[in-house]
Amino acid sequence: MPTRRDFLKLGSVGVAGLVAAPPAAPGAADAAETPRYPLLTIAPLKDIGAGAAISFAYPDRHSPAMLLRLTAPAVGGVGPNQEIVAYSTLCTHKGCPVAFKPERKMLICPCHWSTFDPAKAGTLVIGQASQHLPQIELRVDNGLVQAVGVAGLIYGRHTNIV
Ligand code: FES
Repeated sequence: MPTRRDFLKLGSVGVAGLVAAPPAAPGAADAAETPRYPLLTIAPLKDIGAGAAISFAYPDRHSPAMLLRLTAPAVGGVGPNQEIVAYSTLCTHKGCPVAFKPERKMLICPCHWSTFDPAKAGTLVIGQASQHLPQIELRVDNGLVQAVGVAGLIYGRHTNIV
């Protein structure tokens, strides 16, 4: 009968085998496994005024999101002062739609009051949720603010690209 020591030896062999495996060709695994996010133009930069809150959907029409122009630079922000950010508006607790409350500078869920900070990559400040709000990755190209990806898993999904 195998002893505990035998299992430990087997385990170390397995780990060594993993380490010794040859690396995949550069880019080969990424191309096969990394989902491709669509490119979505949300609005011209010149049309996004101070305090703007623009609803859109990304990466598909079933994924509500909101672009915000904050009053100060934000993590992951784009624009002249890195103050433009965007988030999925599906609360990571149970999927209720969060709303931006300018007076508190927070995205707040009306169902159980989870509160997320749009200036800090959607960090959970307080509430029932256990994960931050997924941030929509933005870029400015030719004067257009565009969505190019999502950081974090959208509520109710196994993968953001379905
Ligand atoms: S669904 Fe948002 S806090 Fe519960």
